[in-house]
Amino acid sequence: MKAVGIVGSPRKKGNTSLLVNEALRGIQEDGSETKVFYLNDMQIRGCQGCRTCKKPEAKCALKDDMATLYEEIESADAVVIGSPVYMFQMTGQTKLFVDRLYAFMNPDFSHRLGEGKKTLMIYAQGQPAPELFKNSFDTNNAVFSMLGFKIQDTIIAAGTADPGDVLEKDGLMGKAYAAGKSLLAS
Ligand SMILES: Cc1cc2nc3c(=O)[nH]c(=O)nc-3n(C[C@H](O)[C@H](O)[C@H](O)COP(=O)(O)O)c2cc1C
Repeated sequence: MKAVGIVGSPRKKGNTSLLVNEALRGIQEDGSETKVFYLNDMQIRGCQGCRTCKKPEAKCALKDDMATLYEEIESADAVVIGSPVYMFQMTGQTKLFVDRLYAFMNPDFSHRLGEGKKTLMIYAQGQPAPELFKNSFDTNNAVFSMLGFKIQDTIIAAGTADPGDVLEKDGLMGKAYAAGKSLLAS
């Protein structure tokens, strides 16, 4: 089995990254292979809206690092997607990635990910109340579901500001590890 982690924070040692990597460590427990990608390090342009990808069997027309992510996600059994909350929403880096997932959608709004991908969502936010950005997370869930990502669990690291804050918060690292461990098992 194989799982891919996507980190949408520019801070490679930040809270999102720590949690995504901890979830991947949990996934590895049964011998599954994992890989992690840092969107901020990758060349990913915004979707150009050309709709080349809507032709039968067609891929995205842009030639950049999304080509790697399309392949990795298509061949994965599970995906862990993490983003900090920036201005009530996912980061810009994450949004560029999500827009480019348009290439996984058919013209009739069905998706091209077969049975779908088991997915764990991870968010880090400064505000201490985890329900504060529920509207935003619900919208993300709807988008990811339409694209073929089956969200099985969501971890919200609320009240985190500096990189590493998550290490001292509410057993969140343990939750990430457990959520990762059960992602492929369920
Ligand atoms: C540009 C920017 C915008 C932010 N906007 C919000 C926000 O709207 N709500 C919030 O709770 N935290 C906000 N934060 C705080 C981050 O979500 C928080 O520091 C988080 O732990 C960062 O995750 P990271 O360590 O993975 O980068 C913002 C931080 C930055 C830099």
